[in-house]
Amino acid sequence: MAAAETQRFKQWQLSTTRGIDGLKFVEDASIGQVGDEDVLVEMHAASLNFMDLFVAKGGHPGMIELQANPGLITGCDGSGIVKTVGAAVNSFEPGDRVVTHLIGRIPDDAKIDFTMVGSSLGMGTNGTLSQYGTFHPSNLVHAPQNLSFEQAATLPCSGLTAYNALFGLSGRQVQKNQWVLVQGTGGVSVAALQIALAVGAHVVATTSSAEKAAKLKDLGVERVLNYRETPEWGVPARALTPGNIGFDHIVDVGGDATLGESVKAIRTDGVISTLGLVGGPTDKQVPMMAVLNNACIVRGLVAGTRQQMRDFVALVEEKGMKPALDDVVFGIEEARKAYRRQERQQHFSKVVIKLQD
Ligand SMILES: NC(=O)c1ccc[n+]([C@@H]2O[C@H](COP(=O)([O-])OP(=O)(O)OC[C@H]3O[C@@H](n4cnc5c(N)ncnc54)[C@H](OP(=O)(O)O)[C@@H]3O)[C@@H](O)[C@H]2O)c1
Repeated sequence: MAAAETQRFKQWQLSTTRGIDGLKFVEDASIGQVGDEDVLVEMHAASLNFMDLFVAKGGHPGMIELQANPGLITGCDGSGIVKTVGAAVNSFEPGDRVVTHLIGRIPDDAKIDFTMVGSSLGMGTNGTLSQYGTFHPSNLVHAPQNLSFEQAATLPCSGLTAYNALFGLSGRQVQKNQWVLVQGTGGVSVAALQIALAVGAHVVATTSSAEKAAKLKDLGVERVLNYRETPEWGVPARALTPGNIGFDHIVDVGGDATLGESVKAIRTDGVISTLGLVGGPTDKQVPMMAVLNNACIVRGLVAGTRQQMRDFVALVEEKGMKPALDDVVFGIEEARKAYRRQERQQHFSKVVIKLQD
């Protein structure tokens, strides 16, 4: 055991499942001892995910129901610098820059399934919205050398999920000159489009506003469709691909609301990664004839392995990727405002919270 040399510091804890107002701001948190298997991290930045909203609210209708977990530090994604390591830790040393990995204490290549999600950072294990945190080493990986703490904090959940969508299926990794479609401008989708562009793929995106469409174009997206103006965007999106052949990869975050359009836009043998339900419930049925016509792969996935996180970090460094951030960055005291921006879907890419004063 090593003594933690931290003074009193600030953090956000879950207290109820009443939503954002139920988050509790603690100004005199402390860390007593760093255990033999712990890594004490001075946290510099955190970023929010759609998941953090439903953790605060006690669940997401039809998807997951959560019990209150009072006192647990909220937040899944974060970055910081190692201050102290326990006697049994040999994978990190003081001064290392690190990012979080949501599920710890499983092998590097263990695939994450939904039964494990309850133990993720900020849900069942102390998370990232704190100026200092102790983590099991398996909840950390080294951060990319080329990123600021704010940029690195965007990578863990949404970035890793995007990486898994485009690189996780053996033999189907996204390639130069392929066509990729992403939906909306949330964390997973913007990470996916940046990964796709970094490998030289062509990207088409959907969004709900002209302002966000302009930001997508600035990042290098070739064509943007407004899914509010064109709710049945599958056929027009397909028409944007050479010879109307369809997309090689579609990153589907909308779930029931968007899968029907995705199967119209995918090419024969293409991969639809279905990983979210942000479009909410709908009465629409998926046109199964389109699945047969296009004979595609519909792949469900949950985040990614720790090894995939390391591979993602290596790709970020190799390609010199710079994750897009939202226009505003919040301070630690402003976390409730940050959650509200995420909830109202006003953000572009990732809502980031700076943790040090
Ligand atoms: N399977 C996994 O492991 C995993 C991991 C991470 C996230 N997810 C899931 O993936 C989804 C996205 O997560 P996130 O953190 O990226 O969310 P987020 O940052 O909160 O993204 C929200 C964005 O989704 C877009 N959107 C909403 N309804 C849409 C629709 N009908 N069609 C297209 N886009 C729509 C909007 O983009 P515009 O404002 O541009 O319209 C909105 O801003 C969530 O359901 C989340 O639970 C799953």
